Amino acid sequence: MVQGFTVWLTGLSGAGKSTIANRLEQELIARGRSVEILDGDIVRTHLSKGLGFSKEDRDTNILRIAFVCSLLTRHGAAVISAAISPYAEARAQARAQIGAFVEVYVQCPIEELTRRDVKGLYEKALRGELANFTGVSDPYEAPVDPDVTVNTDTETLEESVAKILAVLESRGYIGQAAGAVA
Ligand code: ADX
Repeated sequence: MVQGFTVWLTGLSGAGKSTIANRLEQELIARGRSVEILDGDIVRTHLSKGLGFSKEDRDTNILRIAFVCSLLTRHGAAVISAAISPYAEARAQARAQIGAFVEVYVQCPIEELTRRDVKGLYEKALRGELANFTGVSDPYEAPVDPDVTVNTDTETLEESVAKILAVLESRGYIGQAAGAVA
């Protein structure tokens, strides 16, 4: 069976986790992989429906996602998790449970996120109308030693995805793309 793995994207809301997940999915499908994305916004509509944004609820959300990732990874899937996952300890637990785990820090300065503010949540949080909003009124523990860091304010989407693919190749999780120049 082909080697499964999980790409664990972590970063603030609006940093680009879902966009990267979707583009990475296309690349992995093009390499013949079976891919599954666990996106925080979507998981919270079913698997984690009813959970809020306290530390306890976020940890529960992350451990549920990690559990599903571990099952899929064990069966050879290429799995992408795209949740803020703000707490280092929960991410460490995910890594321990999953094994074949690549942590990707999706970095973007808060000033840029506030400027983009696609969902209008930063403005609300900065006005004091949204409690426990990650990066403004709730903690985000940035990864200390991620496997990959992508900077979505300075890199193109293609560049960020290429960085992740390069690490997956170097770990032997995926083969080199046909026609790739060494
Ligand atoms: S996590 O902390 O448990 O990993 P998750 O990725 O599932 O978070 O959900 C984050 C999404 O929920 C954000 O993209 C945003 O749309 C929404 N959201 C609503 N309230 C909050 C909040 N207080 N903090 C962060 N995200 C929030």
